[in-house]
Amino acid sequence: MSWNAVVRAHDSHRGDLLRFFSEGGSTPFREELDLLGELEGKSLIHLQCNSGGDSISLARLGATVTGVDLSDEAVSSARALAEKTGTRAAFERADVYDWLAEALREGRHFDVAFASYGVICWLSDLRRWARGIAGILNPGGRFVLIDFHPAADIFDGDWNHVSDYPYGGEPLLLEEGVGDYVAASDGGLAPAGFAEGIRDFENPEGCYLFRWGLGEVVTALAEAGLRITALEEYPYANGERKFAGMRELPSRRMVPPEHIPKIPLMYGIRAEKG
Ligand SMILES: C[S@@+](CC[C@H](N)C(=O)[O-])C[C@H]1O[C@@H](n2cnc3c(N)ncnc32)[C@H](O)[C@@H]1O
Repeated sequence: MSWNAVVRAHDSHRGDLLRFFSEGGSTPFREELDLLGELEGKSLIHLQCNSGGDSISLARLGATVTGVDLSDEAVSSARALAEKTGTRAAFERADVYDWLAEALREGRHFDVAFASYGVICWLSDLRRWARGIAGILNPGGRFVLIDFHPAADIFDGDWNHVSDYPYGGEPLLLEEGVGDYVAASDGGLAPAGFAEGIRDFENPEGCYLFRWGLGEVVTALAEAGLRITALEEYPYANGERKFAGMRELPSRRMVPPEHIPKIPLMYGIRAEKG
């Protein structure tokens, strides 16, 4: 599986996370923390949690956190980090659709659901996903999503307009599989400090991703009965250097070179259950 193959390469660049956390460090960016709001005493399900750095940070802000991810490697890495940092956070390995259906059957409910940075493109069925999230939220609970903006997907790495705006969950075969975007971020995705780690990683496993527009994400959540209370668009990408000439502003905000007119590079949604 493409994600299992790449996790070790990603983790190899993430620096000394133990020291980072022991010195009070926290991995989430300001934008998601603003959308999440107060977390003390809240139960929080972190969907597609990857290696768990954000899950552990959110637990340290007072939430009771469960992380879910498809990748065995990511989940074992997250469990090891929780244990080493002495953080109480649970991690479950599952496909997100299966997990949401099972949680609903078992009557599990959460105050907050959260997913971030590179999650929508792995989902083949947005309606099923949104219904699942609505089903496991407590009344008054909130879902927070922050992700890279589909408007940026019309460009290749050199800012040439080469693709249609994403629509309809169109599948796209990535023969080269999930890449080492943590290495490519040149420190942008390594808040504990960048480590050289595994060089020139090549993923032996290809994968499919799914191209969705922003309107489709919002509509799926609204159709699932959630009330959209925030839809933010940001003219920068946190951490990720996806295009040529990206400049880094404070707080690891990556912006295009000056000659490129501004476009939204990420968006955030808060959706609440009545
Ligand atoms: C780009 S990462 C998310 C980044 C993460 N928020 C972080 O802080 O590192 C996408 C994650 O989605 C997971 N994933 C992909 N498809 C999935 C599925 N069907 N069910 C559950 N997790 C899935 C991958 O294993 C991967 O860990």
